[in-house]
Amino acid sequence: MIPRHKIILMVSITLLVVSCTTTTKEKPKSYPPVRGLIAQKAMVVSARKEASKIGADIMKKGGNAFDAMIATEMALAVSYPFAGSLGGGGFMVYRKHTGETGALDYREKAPLAASKNMYLDEKGNPIPDKSTIGALAIGVPGTVAGLFAVHNKFGSLSIDEILSPVIHLAEKGFIVTEKQKARFDAYRDLFVDVNRDTIVWAKAYKTGDTIKNKTLAKTLKRIILNGKDEFYKGETGKKLVKRIQDHGGIITMEDLSKYEAKWRAPIQFTYRDLSIISMSPPSSGGVCLAQIMKMIEPYPISKYRHNQCKTIQVITEAERRAYADRSFYLGDPDFTNIPIDTLLSKAYLSGRMDDFTFDEATDSSAINCGLITGYESDETTHYSIIDPFGNAVSATVTLNGAYGSKLYVPEVGTFLNNEMDDFSTKPGIPNMFGLIGAAANSIAPEKRMLSSMTPTIVEKSGKLWMSVGTPGGSTIITSVLQTILNVKEFGMTMQDAVNAPRFHHQWLPDVIVFEPNSFDHQLLDSLRAKGYHSSEEQSRILGKVDGILVLPDGTLEGGADKRGDDTAVGF
Ligand code: GLY
Repeated sequence: MIPRHKIILMVSITLLVVSCTTTTKEKPKSYPPVRGLIAQKAMVVSARKEASKIGADIMKKGGNAFDAMIATEMALAVSYPFAGSLGGGGFMVYRKHTGETGALDYREKAPLAASKNMYLDEKGNPIPDKSTIGALAIGVPGTVAGLFAVHNKFGSLSIDEILSPVIHLAEKGFIVTEKQKARFDAYRDLFVDVNRDTIVWAKAYKTGDTIKNKTLAKTLKRIILNGKDEFYKGETGKKLVKRIQDHGGIITMEDLSKYEAKWRAPIQFTYRDLSIISMSPPSSGGVCLAQIMKMIEPYPISKYRHNQCKTIQVITEAERRAYADRSFYLGDPDFTNIPIDTLLSKAYLSGRMDDFTFDEATDSSAINCGLITGYESDETTHYSIIDPFGNAVSATVTLNGAYGSKLYVPEVGTFLNNEMDDFSTKPGIPNMFGLIGAAANSIAPEKRMLSSMTPTIVEKSGKLWMSVGTPGGSTIITSVLQTILNVKEFGMTMQDAVNAPRFHHQWLPDVIVFEPNSFDHQLLDSLRAKGYHSSEEQSRILGKVDGILVLPDGTLEGGADKRGDDTAVGF
């Protein structure tokens, strides 16, 4: 005889499982749909209103999307030191009005004196914080080289014209927002610890205060005069290297002078009637996005409906498999032989989902990277721009952690990254985003660390349709994915697509992270009944997406993520 309480439990579980496959109640979509800013000709969406406005103004005075990119990124270095800086790096994907596409890698790289085990103790264990905090965590910055590479190839205004409004912003100051104040408060003690003294950012700011950065204004003036060499060979570089070495770092003038941004072929693939152009290695973004979307494509997820059980299952299982491949196969393509063609082939990807069933979760411990024969073996910010000529730019840039290594260079006016943590410091040991890596992403002098940044441009029926991207470390790829699917499969506006609740799975740890208080408890119970592990971490940011959608009448809709101070500005 089965006890009564067990019968009740069995019936409840059966109902939950049934509800998962057939009748889970869908939360109402926002009604009426929320539209973002609509502009007729051009738009910038970024993490700060000041930066979006400066970028849009550059286009108003005749500049193109590439000029606006340089201005926007430098304006973020002034007003958004959390992730914008001269001391980090990034990736940019572009599509010109002619349909020509391309990608720029201005990712940081390991210094010449870096070595494979530099973050391990004598027993071979990772030394806490060594790859994330302070001068040893810094990779050779790529931002200034990247912006000059863009200007040389596509710029239409002079660097002087482009940077002048940014210098004005740095001299006049920007207003501290409530969210920004909270971040300064959270990092104040660490700023003082790492810098062995107080720094301008460690003051107790209030919401509404104005912060000026006259030192950064002076640095930008020197860069206008002396070009890229000012940063990599000149006075600014020397100040930077001195500061780093005084604090125990290993970056030299030789490291700076050898730094080059690299033009790369983007990853391009189709998803139904969309053609997607995204970042190639050393970012994992494009490869993982392509793998996930190709694994999802055979399933009618619009019928399964937005954020419902079967949709979440299919997306989670595709993500689990793609992130397993990421951990093993991906790294800097100049150092690692990446089997991209196989990883993106139809035969390989359809085989990857062979063992998936809707009945129960796949166990991550049962998933490894797929077998490819013959193969030997994280704070960030994003902006999207479309100009009046029809050129589109999608750029994601980073210091890695919030304020990077926390080491600030008062003589230059910028923080420096802690990008070295994006390497696999030891095979199988997770980095600050919980990502596991292997030999493909081990540390070597001059190697670029693997990234998750996924600046992406989407075409529909051969025409520009969307520019999109986000910060969020390992959650970048899955946030970009869900935003594209929200518009394509679930018919959302750009703004609703950006605002919609998100979830994330990255193979290990074997857990679906849901944004807190956004998913129905009955739905979460249904997934648990199928063996999915889940968490709703209160502090977890699942992306802060900024996108622009070209509407059928040719106007532009901005999607500026409500999770931050992000703002669309257009005309
Ligand atoms: N630093 C975060 C990333 O590049 O993925």
